[in-house]
Amino acid sequence: MTSLLVADIAVLVTNDPAAGPGLLGEIRGAALVVEHGRVAWAGPAIAAPACDVRVSASGGAVLPGFVDSHTHLVFAGDRLADFTGRMSGRPYSPDGISSTVAATRAAPDEVLTANVARLLGELRAGGATTVEVKSGYGLTVADEARALAIARQFTDETTFLGAHVVPAEYAADRGAYVDLVTGPMLAAAAPHAKWIDVFCDRGAFDESEARAVCRAGMAAGLGPRLHGNQLGPGPGVRLAVELGAASVDHCTHLADADIEALAGSATVATLLPGAEFSTRSPYPDARRLLDAGVAVALATDCNPGTSYTTSIPLCIALAVREMGMSPAEAVHAATAGGARALRRDDIGVLRPGSRADFVVLAAPDPGYLAYRPGVPLVAGVWKDGRPI
Ligand code: NIG
Ligand code: FE
Repeated sequence: MTSLLVADIAVLVTNDPAAGPGLLGEIRGAALVVEHGRVAWAGPAIAAPACDVRVSASGGAVLPGFVDSHTHLVFAGDRLADFTGRMSGRPYSPDGISSTVAATRAAPDEVLTANVARLLGELRAGGATTVEVKSGYGLTVADEARALAIARQFTDETTFLGAHVVPAEYAADRGAYVDLVTGPMLAAAAPHAKWIDVFCDRGAFDESEARAVCRAGMAAGLGPRLHGNQLGPGPGVRLAVELGAASVDHCTHLADADIEALAGSATVATLLPGAEFSTRSPYPDARRLLDAGVAVALATDCNPGTSYTTSIPLCIALAVREMGMSPAEAVHAATAGGARALRRDDIGVLRPGSRADFVVLAAPDPGYLAYRPGVPLVAGVWKDGRPI
């Protein structure tokens, strides 16, 4: 058995309240011991046990690997023209999804696989060690199953989003599309998926359609999560809480009742500031959620339409600058919050027994992620105890 000592850590973020003070459970002047891909020990450097191998964090901060709990990586083409239009005042419309659907259906498997690999490489370089990937740009039985089979080659956190929008060929019969999603498409997708998701918003699916899709997915053994309250107020948050969803994502337009419902629930509010940045929309009010005691996650929402970023550090910086989060709250949301949104307790935390998934920063404090926006501070990324 080889033990590895990570030494010279200015601040170790454990997210373990038993290990140190504050929301992040910080240990100053720390060391971390890794064995068999797991954290074996975390504490003050002075008390570190002897190990076989030593690596230096060079006086940087070390934190749990980021958990990106919301991405749409399986697609072809881009929507630069939509983005450019929005920057000169045009509003976002989910109608743009159809052009990505057409490009994705036309793309060979190798193109989609290479695109996922490229984007995951970017995510990892930015410190993401766990990434959830959704389907949702195929919208036929074969294309949704294909998207999920490709995603599954890279991650166990795969989500069936056949209910992204109603595709053009079903525009005259929405009910038939919901029947397809809840029937043959779900049957083909479920073997490759862990989660089911629905875009419950104007221009996408209404409350009863979304409930039917989630319930069918749950009956097939998938865990529910929802896109809700992105484009306007609506039933998404309430429905997510009603269904016991792991997460409701976007949460940009919330009523007081939505916040109360979330606060008394096990559903995480996942905020996606890349989407507000790229659609030039008002940011969600994270302060209001946090002050009410709601569990909050931050994720990239990487997709070609509303948020073509793979940078969790950018999302942290936006959350601090625009959404009322402290740097510690934003870092917690991108690590422990993402883990909770995926109902995982082995990641997002650095304590004995957790996965040795961590990020070494070229900065002495995790607050630098917001303090130095746009600067590549992620100096090292480790997954299961190995540098990647
Ligand atoms: O999370 N909101 C729904 N789906 C994506 C956008 C999809 C697109 O425009 O291509 C999102 O923002
Ligand atoms: Fe999304």
